Amino acid sequence: MQNKATVIACVNQKGGTGKTCTAENLGIGMVQEGKKVLLVDMDPQASLTISLGYPRPDDLPVTVSDQMAKVMQDMPVPLKEGILTHEEGVDLMPASIALSGLEVSLVNAMSRESILKQYLEPLEYDFIILDCMPSLGMLTVNALAAADQLVVPVQAQYLSAKGLEQLLQTVNKVKRQINPKLRVEGILLTMVDSRTNNAKEIASLIREAYGSKLKVFDVEIPRSVRAAEISAEGKSIFAHDPGGKVADAYRKLSKEVIHDAEKRRKHQLEQLR
Ligand SMILES: Nc1ncnc2c1ncn2[C@@H]1O[C@H](COP(=O)(O)OP(=O)(O)OP(=O)(O)O)[C@@H](O)[C@H]1O
Ligand SMILES: [Mg+2]
Repeated sequence: MQNKATVIACVNQKGGTGKTCTAENLGIGMVQEGKKVLLVDMDPQASLTISLGYPRPDDLPVTVSDQMAKVMQDMPVPLKEGILTHEEGVDLMPASIALSGLEVSLVNAMSRESILKQYLEPLEYDFIILDCMPSLGMLTVNALAAADQLVVPVQAQYLSAKGLEQLLQTVNKVKRQINPKLRVEGILLTMVDSRTNNAKEIASLIREAYGSKLKVFDVEIPRSVRAAEISAEGKSIFAHDPGGKVADAYRKLSKEVIHDAEKRRKHQLEQLR
């Protein structure tokens, strides 16, 4: 029997911090390390779906809101229904604008926080990566309830300490009330400009404020037009600019996240013995 997938959410309620870019390239980076990976688009704007080469998400026959609606109505969900396979080997459960309608109907649903979790549970992958929308509403709470760990992309030049504080409060609340195993894997500095020292200052500010409780990944994602170009191309940074510094950074991140997950899994197995 396959182990349950490790679920990772890319989350930050601030817009434009590199969540979608990270979900896509972390996922495809893991595929290149031999892992079986599903990306789930949890943003009604469907940037991840569009970025992976589906420019008209509203025309797709099945998206994540359809599957979550089936869970809410206690209807069976065929295991692979609606899951698309990208040419670089990653699977995608796409989103469309219908997801914002679903968010509204979640409010009155039974177990409204765990609808996504129930959808994901039977799926067979090594890793499932959730691309969250820039808000802490019910869709993001569903992602937090389904996740084992979080990667928080922070745009290095605009760290909002308040924003991070608010995110951590929500994380702790979900942890206490719904999902005790949830943990922040790390803060990922994105769009780092090599010409300034800012990223280092921000990393040390975060370390000062949150101490050892919160890891800031050593690897930083450089700012590069190459990264900005990929969403129009429908491919990852590994296909678009394999020798570049952004591909290199996402390769390192993928290896580190896999390594940590495997270490933790081994530790858990040892404790069970
Ligand atoms: N390393 C990078 N260098 C330069 N541009 C980048 C980089 N990463 C992402 N971008 C660009 O910055 C913009 C925001 O990135 P992205 O869409 O990944 O952020 P997001 O957090 O998902 O945004 P939203 O909150 O709207 O979902 C996009 O136009 C993207 O192409
Ligand atoms: Mg996004």
